[in-house]
Amino acid sequence: MYPPSAGHRAALEAAAPGVALRVAGDAAEAGRWIEDADLVLGNRYFLQSLPRARRLRWMQSNSVGVDRILDGGVDLGDLVLTCTRGVYDDEVAEHALALALGLVRGLHLGRDAQRERRWPRLSLPTLAGRRALVLGWGGVGRGIARRLAALGVTVEGARRREGTERDEEGFRVWGRSTWRRALPQTDLLFLALPLTAETRHLVGRKLLATLPPGARVVNVGRGGTLDEGALLAALRSGRLAGAALDVLEQEPPAPEDPLLGDPRCLVTPHAARSLESPPFRWEPLFVENLRRFARGEPLLHVVDRKAGY
Ligand SMILES: NC(=O)c1ccc[n+]([C@@H]2O[C@H](COP(=O)([O-])OP(=O)(O)OC[C@H]3O[C@@H](n4cnc5c(N)ncnc54)[C@H](OP(=O)(O)O)[C@@H]3O)[C@@H](O)[C@H]2O)c1
Repeated sequence: MYPPSAGHRAALEAAAPGVALRVAGDAAEAGRWIEDADLVLGNRYFLQSLPRARRLRWMQSNSVGVDRILDGGVDLGDLVLTCTRGVYDDEVAEHALALALGLVRGLHLGRDAQRERRWPRLSLPTLAGRRALVLGWGGVGRGIARRLAALGVTVEGARRREGTERDEEGFRVWGRSTWRRALPQTDLLFLALPLTAETRHLVGRKLLATLPPGARVVNVGRGGTLDEGALLAALRSGRLAGAALDVLEQEPPAPEDPLLGDPRCLVTPHAARSLESPPFRWEPLFVENLRRFARGEPLLHVVDRKAGY
């Protein structure tokens, strides 16, 4: 469900000889081709054409987070869903680091002053010496942690799996029933979570109130994991020093969204994974998974549909 370049198409065909590839150029074609398709590559037109599928077994998404597909209101039956986990780790982690540095060093305040041709003196902390908790310990969360550690931040992580452990890189990682204990010592809270039934508004008023005064929040996962009303109240009361958000509950946000106008808030338009032009970074993964599918081998990055990621 995307127009492949000639080279990518040739790689797909070589990976699965005998598999007939059809390219859906629009929704009508997608609806026709999906009827007899065993597999679909790519998100475009997928949900709208899915009700017409009769024998579909596998769908390869070009997203990391698959909440839109799982919550799309269409019955997926026993479809196997795979995602692009890992493909954008560096880019998203770099963006999170840029947001954190920008927030702590007041780049947003400098930019605001520049636009208004003001020259204020700013009192700014450093990242070095701060303590961070990274919520979500997938490729993105771990990528954020490594970068922060290199800048002198003390970093811990949190994941869904139970049990507190030191991971192979030496980070302390909390399990889902224990990570809240780390909050009172957390100057910087990073969210790198998928949006699932469990994570929706996981970070809300109570949790934000447990952070020390002057803490900051950075979200590069999904907007719905953070209660924006609670965040705004915490910013306005002065309890939180700032927030940097690449993802919002509603995208694009309404022009009057108060977070957009709050000077303590730095917002980027879901740009951590930014626009690509071909060749797409997921192409090698699609080719490899198609090869595996054709041979009946286990696919890479299968989504746990019950868990939602
Ligand atoms: N802003 C962007 O442009 C952008 C780009 C790419 C991805 N994203 C978002 O970032 C998310 C994370 O990406 P990823 O590749 O790192 O995902 P991932 O590999 O699927 O990792 C997800 C992590 O979240 C943890 N988690 C899930 N539910 C949890 C819960 N209830 N409590 C605590 N931890 C929980 C998981 O725990 P376990 O390790 O125990 O399973 C895992 O460590 C994606 O799902 C996507 O929505 C955003």
